[in-house]
Amino acid sequence: MRPERDFTPPSAFCPHPERWTAIDAASAEREVTELVASLVRALQPDYVVETGAAYGYTAQAIGEALRRNGHGRLVTLEIDEARAVEAEERCAGLPVKVLQQHSLQFVPEEPVGFAWLDSSAEERDRELRRYLPWMASGTLVAVHDTGPHFPVHPRLQALVKEGFVRGVRLRTPRGVSLLEVLADGMHSAQ
Ligand SMILES: C[S@@+](CC[C@H](N)C(=O)[O-])C[C@H]1O[C@@H](n2cnc3c(N)ncnc32)[C@H](O)[C@@H]1O
Repeated sequence: MRPERDFTPPSAFCPHPERWTAIDAASAEREVTELVASLVRALQPDYVVETGAAYGYTAQAIGEALRRNGHGRLVTLEIDEARAVEAEERCAGLPVKVLQQHSLQFVPEEPVGFAWLDSSAEERDRELRRYLPWMASGTLVAVHDTGPHFPVHPRLQALVKEGFVRGVRLRTPRGVSLLEVLADGMHSAQ
């Protein structure tokens, strides 16, 4: 584990990145992974989707939270074959399915109870638009890398302006936004 300052320099948005830790630049800050797992514990979802598994550290934490919940499963998407294999190994024995698939081609198999969007910074708003039909009013979506040094936040603001979601942005080194879905999607009542 390394100080996050190795990956994110101090900024006005987050002046003390050294207070967070991360295994590498591709994996989320450990403290953010813990937040995501805690949300899974707090919200008790049945079906969780993660985009961008990378090496599977947050997938493992979500899987362990689901196991503690006693119900629910995670599908995590990763386009890189070697990373998908490593994530699968890391999540062995947990209620986690790693799919080597592009997030914008994935079709959820049932209503999404919680999502962690953490793939390409260019695609997260499009992922949210794609999965909204499977989300009910009140579903929580956590989006990573919404700090000002990434392009994600302004793209999400378009969804806010369109009335699909409302949210709050947390001042973590890379930024995390918690978004509440505001209307039932067409598949969410199934
Ligand atoms: C920031 S890392 C994910 C970190 C991980 N979610 C975590 O919490 O530690 C982003 C990953 O998304 C993958 N990726 C990028 N675009 C993708 C897409 N459209 N669909 C699926 N995976 C994608 C990359 O290969 C990379 O491994």
